[in-house]
Amino acid sequence: MNRSAFVLQEMGLSPLWRPRGEPGVPNSPEPQAAAVAETAAITVATPPRVAAVASTAPVAAPAPVEVNEVAPQTKQPHTLPIQDWDSLHAQVAACQRCELAKTRHNVVVGRGNPTARLLIIGEAPGEQEDRQGLPFVGKAGQLLENMLAAAGINSEQDVYICNVVKCRPPGNRNPAPAEIASCASYLQWQIDTVKPDLIVALGRFAAHTLLNSQAPISTLRKQLHHAHGRPLLVTFHPAYLLRSPGEKAKAWQDWHQVKCQLAS
Ligand code: URA
Repeated sequence: MNRSAFVLQEMGLSPLWRPRGEPGVPNSPEPQAAAVAETAAITVATPPRVAAVASTAPVAAPAPVEVNEVAPQTKQPHTLPIQDWDSLHAQVAACQRCELAKTRHNVVVGRGNPTARLLIIGEAPGEQEDRQGLPFVGKAGQLLENMLAAAGINSEQDVYICNVVKCRPPGNRNPAPAEIASCASYLQWQIDTVKPDLIVALGRFAAHTLLNSQAPISTLRKQLHHAHGRPLLVTFHPAYLLRSPGEKAKAWQDWHQVKCQLAS
């Protein structure tokens, strides 16, 4: 299997689209594979600034990104006396600010490289994350890992991953506003300390929280936003992609956009 086929398989987008006229290729490609072929077939040289984010995937020409300057978010300074990452972990582990402290098994602060250029922010820990104390280690996390690998992004070196809320909401319900507010200063400290060149908000909940917006994902994707003093892109939550695999081609475009933004 060649590299393109492997990447598409990892994204759940195989079989690989091939141009009509090649031996054994039907006249009409599968709609899903055809959608991704637009991005997968074109190759662009990797610019020098993304050298640390090794390119292993086919890279498409950048789709135009609209820069959303309409409602830039004001950076909120964190007010906690957090000196370093150990101090953050200790304070979150001892946190009793909201009801989630009563039901959690572990707090989930984050994982990856705290000096990475890319900060990925999800919603809240699920069952597996609550058990292991690490974000995105369940099925959605596996898909996220596959997407990052397909985009040539190393999840240990090139990214720091965390959530808006650090404790699991029981039954995976949406976090309540008071729970989000309780965690806001931890998240702000993480953003201020990682100082990423780009934030990626995974899914509606993280996007709405970080952008203070209620707009649908379809509107928020493909726009370069600014939130908490940093550029921010929005893409689908991997749990949504597990339920709606037909959207994976769009997610692939988003991750390509992430690479382009890091290269700019
Ligand atoms: N979903 C999230 O938003 N975060 C996790 O850590 C796991 C699943």
